[in-house]
Amino acid sequence: MNTAPPTECAAWRKLEAHAESWRGAKLAELLEADPARARNFVVTAPGLRLEYARQAVGGLTLKLLAQLAAERGFDQWRAALLAGQPVNSTEHRPAWHTALRAGEAAPQEVQSNLRKMLELCNALRQEKQFRRIVNLGTGGSDLGPRLLADAFGDGTLEVRFVANIDPVELERALAGAEPETTLIVVVSKTFTTQETLFNANKVKELLGEKTELYAVTANVEAARKFGAREILPMWDWVGGRFSVWSAAGFAGLCAIGAAAFEEILAGARDIDAHFAAAPVEDNVPALMALLGVWNVNFLGARAHAVLPYAHRLRLLPAYLQQLEMESNGKSVDREGRALAYATCPVLFGAEGTPSQHSFLQLLHQGTQAVPADFIDCAVSEALSANARAQADALAHGTQDPALPPHRRHPGHRPSSTIRLDRLDPRALGRLLALYEHKVFTQGVIWNINSFDQWGVELGKALARQILDRR
Ligand code: F6P
Repeated sequence: MNTAPPTECAAWRKLEAHAESWRGAKLAELLEADPARARNFVVTAPGLRLEYARQAVGGLTLKLLAQLAAERGFDQWRAALLAGQPVNSTEHRPAWHTALRAGEAAPQEVQSNLRKMLELCNALRQEKQFRRIVNLGTGGSDLGPRLLADAFGDGTLEVRFVANIDPVELERALAGAEPETTLIVVVSKTFTTQETLFNANKVKELLGEKTELYAVTANVEAARKFGAREILPMWDWVGGRFSVWSAAGFAGLCAIGAAAFEEILAGARDIDAHFAAAPVEDNVPALMALLGVWNVNFLGARAHAVLPYAHRLRLLPAYLQQLEMESNGKSVDREGRALAYATCPVLFGAEGTPSQHSFLQLLHQGTQAVPADFIDCAVSEALSANARAQADALAHGTQDPALPPHRRHPGHRPSSTIRLDRLDPRALGRLLALYEHKVFTQGVIWNINSFDQWGVELGKALARQILDRR
């Protein structure tokens, strides 16, 4: 498949020339001149639509971006990802997270593991032997289950999360816990992550040898030695930040229940089918990826904001920070060449409406345009109105000459709106899969491996050296 630098693509050079024509353009003028723009710049997928009329793009831009995807071999890369081929080139592994939610089409080991997860969850939620579950994990072994529990936890079981070695987090999670009614779930694909093992040993000290332990890991031997009573497998062909669909999501499953978790999987399956079948110009995650490439590589954006207008999704930006920046925060391509072009922007965000009283000031009047994703979850008219108002203010700005300069908004600040039909577990599954496929597609365009994370190793090694020297 194509691993040449994207800058050698004809489409890339055309996009560079095309970007010149966008210098000084005004979104407000585009939106006012073409009333049909808002209706035409929309692509739909099951349960949602991507509205991108407020992006600084026109018909030719979209055509050239689609051409760039074709020149990068997007179709072949997409087929390789979905077929479980070794797209993770430095670890020689597949990145087959789509198999985890493939239902009856999933590999037998996936289906039997899911059945076991659901049975354990139902037993825990019905038998009430345990009142509290404490998930010990970090990164993808924390962010995914934590997001599910925070979004849709129904209170049947109290599920808490510990990711940090700061003893305060563990103390808070264990406050009032009784050993016999507390289940500890240690989640670590490698079962070597310092923070997770530190906390797991600490819990054993605090709760005593009778501590009831489950483990979720690819390192079954280490988990058994550690004393786990139940061990749910993780596979090396699933990356941590793509693992919420696997047993890594077990604590989230226990918090929301089997039916809701199966809806999460179904939502991701909806998007997988859409991603697999839709041509680029009608493919929501692929278009999100290409709009991001246009903003970063041709309009110079170096940050990207995600604003979910729903309290249930307040942890989504933190989840997406790992998904996007641990995947595409790279500066070497698949051939080991230093990159001469930008890749992943700094991703940040927070729930709307509180973010309007925080960093949105910078988005409106700062010295840099920060493209934004507004996620309108149809929770209430007021939330939808605020999401729309912010996107309109960013695009149109205010140019009233009567206003003093410090009160004017430059406008021409791009955003997309992802509009959900409703916010339920299936919608969350769709959203997470949408961003997974966006990240993968950007990796294809940038010719980088989105599935390794060698950049996190040095800090771990230095921390060990510092501690050993004490
Ligand atoms: O940050 C590095 C990383 O390997 C993540 O990719 C992963 O989600 C996290 O650490 C935890 O890893 P493990 O599940 O092996 O403990």
